[in-house]
Amino acid sequence: MVSPDTACDLILFGAMGDLASKKLFPALYHLHRAELLAPGTRILALARRGYSTAEARQVIRERLSRTLGSDELSPPTMEAFLERVEYEDLDFSSREGYLTLEQWHGRGPSENTLILYYATPPDLYATITGHLASVGCCDETTRVVVEKPIGHDLVSSRELNDQLAGVFREENIYRIDHYLGKETVQNLIALRFANNLFASQWDQNHISHVEITVAESVGIEGRWSYFDSAGQLRDMVQSHLLQLLCLLAMDPPSDLSSDSIRDEKVKVLKALAPLTQERIPTHLVRGQYTAGTADGKPVPGYLEEEGSVGHSRTETFVALKVEIENWRWAGVPFYIRTGKRLPEKRSEVIVHFKPAPHYIFDPDQKHLANNKLIIRLQPDEGMSLQILTKDQGLSRGMRLRQGPLELTFAEAFNTDRIPDAYERLLLEAMKGNQYLFVRRDEVEYAWHWVDQLLANCEECGAHPKRYAAGTWGPVASIAMITRDGRSWYEDV
Ligand code: BG6
Repeated sequence: MVSPDTACDLILFGAMGDLASKKLFPALYHLHRAELLAPGTRILALARRGYSTAEARQVIRERLSRTLGSDELSPPTMEAFLERVEYEDLDFSSREGYLTLEQWHGRGPSENTLILYYATPPDLYATITGHLASVGCCDETTRVVVEKPIGHDLVSSRELNDQLAGVFREENIYRIDHYLGKETVQNLIALRFANNLFASQWDQNHISHVEITVAESVGIEGRWSYFDSAGQLRDMVQSHLLQLLCLLAMDPPSDLSSDSIRDEKVKVLKALAPLTQERIPTHLVRGQYTAGTADGKPVPGYLEEEGSVGHSRTETFVALKVEIENWRWAGVPFYIRTGKRLPEKRSEVIVHFKPAPHYIFDPDQKHLANNKLIIRLQPDEGMSLQILTKDQGLSRGMRLRQGPLELTFAEAFNTDRIPDAYERLLLEAMKGNQYLFVRRDEVEYAWHWVDQLLANCEECGAHPKRYAAGTWGPVASIAMITRDGRSWYEDV
């Protein structure tokens, strides 16, 4: 990673919240420790806790000490990092306080780029943006970083994007999808476009189907009411899963610039086959978890979670068969699934290549005869290419054996730690590089597709199917892929 050229004034709205303490401050600390924050970079933490700067620093110090590993903590580094942080009390809904932001920025070096980070609930984005505009705190160089969700549907995302566009230029709006900051997700670009071996095989002539699994073992984690109004389709599919799909399916960009990459992703979103009412029964399975186990311990069902109102038709699991209507992918289904309270936390992509055109080996082994590329996004980031070789030994004749060509990044490259997505995203925002952030049209095309899916689903009136916590979702998701003569990877 390369240090940003210019120093920044980073204003964090919601600096004492969950996201800031679990992700943003640890990421900023790591950047500071790696000398990737320009020396003049300053951080203004905003919240409504009534702290002085000294008190806020103490809270941040304690939280970082709990979050970071002992080998990552060093008192002098911590103190030097905290020196960058100041605190202001701000009632986000009252205009007056915003005047102090301009004064704070004005007190710093004039060349510092102003970056505003909204780490608040999304319903505050409009209020904050409106007040920032009314006190004239932003100019044409001010950047803003916004967390997902960008709206709840196409209409609300347009409204929010319009509000942002009223104050910030699109090239200064950094919409976060933290999956784009993950090391292995970035590696999809390198894998696909730096290796002609794969680039030349990446289409319907060579690939039979693709699986994307983003499984989580956690449940709702105290966010019942937010989650219940969103569900897994809005919370995960509209953003992370569709972004993964785009990176896997897009055409080669002409260069690595932000717009070249995002132009190609948009083309994929535009080519997604709509999930019409006719397709829903065979292309979509929604599930909701009931009581079961996680890590060997009993856990409640979704409707018994803290904050639950006791009834809901919101899905905590989705399996989808997605088709892309273009030359490259005609006839190649992308099976995607994601859920809460699945047996483990695992995100991976499995690219199934077509078998060789003419099979000459033992007929009993024919089921082995296709290559698979397994891309592990988390945990144990790495890749594995399943290939067929001759089984060793005199007695085996020409029996085949499937085995992996394995690349585990941490082992192969001797990396002591893989940076968290937020480190990369904050660094890129400070460098003014948007390629890891989502452009307005991407968000809106993704909502357009998800909206029609949800509307058709509503028309069908289907309830989500039950699955016990700790299992791989409703059996209907297995039936969905089995109907096509295939199976989810771990079922093989
Ligand atoms: C968030 C979702 O965007 O991503 C959460 O809102 C989800 O529901 C989380 O748990 C998963 O992120 P990760 O990085 O832990 O896979």
